[in-house]
Amino acid sequence: MAEVATPNMREAVGAHFTPVKRMAAGAKDEATNAKLARSSIAESLRGTSLTAIGNLSNAQIAEIMQTAGQMRDMVTTSGGDELLKGKILTTVFYEPSTRTNCSFQAAMLRQGGSVITVNESSSSAAKGETLGDTVRCLECYSDVIVLRHPRSGAAAEAAAAMKKPLLNAGDGVGEHPSQALLDLFTIIDELCGAAVSAKLESEGALASALRGKTVTMVGDLKNGRTVHSLTKLLQRFDVNLRFVSPAVLRMPAEIVANAQGEKCTRTEHDMLTPEVLAESDILYVTRVQKERFDTEEAYNAVKDSFIITPETLGRMKASARVLHPLPRINEIDHACDADPRAAYFRQMTNGMYVRMALLRLILG
Ligand code: CP
Repeated sequence: MAEVATPNMREAVGAHFTPVKRMAAGAKDEATNAKLARSSIAESLRGTSLTAIGNLSNAQIAEIMQTAGQMRDMVTTSGGDELLKGKILTTVFYEPSTRTNCSFQAAMLRQGGSVITVNESSSSAAKGETLGDTVRCLECYSDVIVLRHPRSGAAAEAAAAMKKPLLNAGDGVGEHPSQALLDLFTIIDELCGAAVSAKLESEGALASALRGKTVTMVGDLKNGRTVHSLTKLLQRFDVNLRFVSPAVLRMPAEIVANAQGEKCTRTEHDMLTPEVLAESDILYVTRVQKERFDTEEAYNAVKDSFIITPETLGRMKASARVLHPLPRINEIDHACDADPRAAYFRQMTNGMYVRMALLRLILG
């Protein structure tokens, strides 16, 4: 490992340098120190669980973003590598999933690792085994577990029962932290370009990429774990949040209360007005979550509250983007898909890069 120059060492070395050479040495010190700082942040992620977005510091998030950019380059140029050869990921999904489950599996396979998949009906959970016992068993066979569970708080409970890392792939109406990370990567990539998203080297770089942006979340903000995690992430930065939903699907009060700070501002709306559309840099659309309603009648009353059409896009900036964690039902008209502002399929692709970064840093 490169030695870090102390002030005395720098003086001694500088005595033999011309001013130009001293500048070059200073720049080299800075680069060395930045490299060491980065490696210590990466080290801080090794072996850790991710149950909520609050588990991560901004510096750790910047490290994940930077690594995700590198994963995108690697997949584009060579498809992957063998860094995680010999490591095993177990995915435990007790709720349906296409994107999260498959992208975590692809993320592991592209780095040379292997995957075991478990679901509720194929595991001894069907015989009444507790979640804690199930994950304690599975960690005997694998290096990391990715868990989706219908109950809020289940991921933290499972992680507490384990010695190895667990990644929360969605716990009921609670959180979906890896989705928030891929949403963040997508927001910066789409609004600032790949040159910026590939170089998110620090908390400062993250803050500057997000400064002044308006992110409007629309749909089922009560039950949508993706918007819960994304709000908790974005509220750390200088952004304007707009929450648009029917009254019965409002963002939980404690999340709204925390989304107003020194930097972040937020407002709540029950209509997606032309003014809100015109000022939005990101329109983050969510599905009304039928599975969280007590009755079909209650679901039917709000299921089509907001439908994004090409006319809706016509009221938005040319530089704005529409995101959706997917799956979608009716809330985005398929006629929007051809609009360059429809970024939800690119968002889904970014999920694999971000999850590759997470596995790489956690299993390192
Ligand atoms: N965004 C998301 O969580 O999608 P899946 O339910 O398909 O995993």
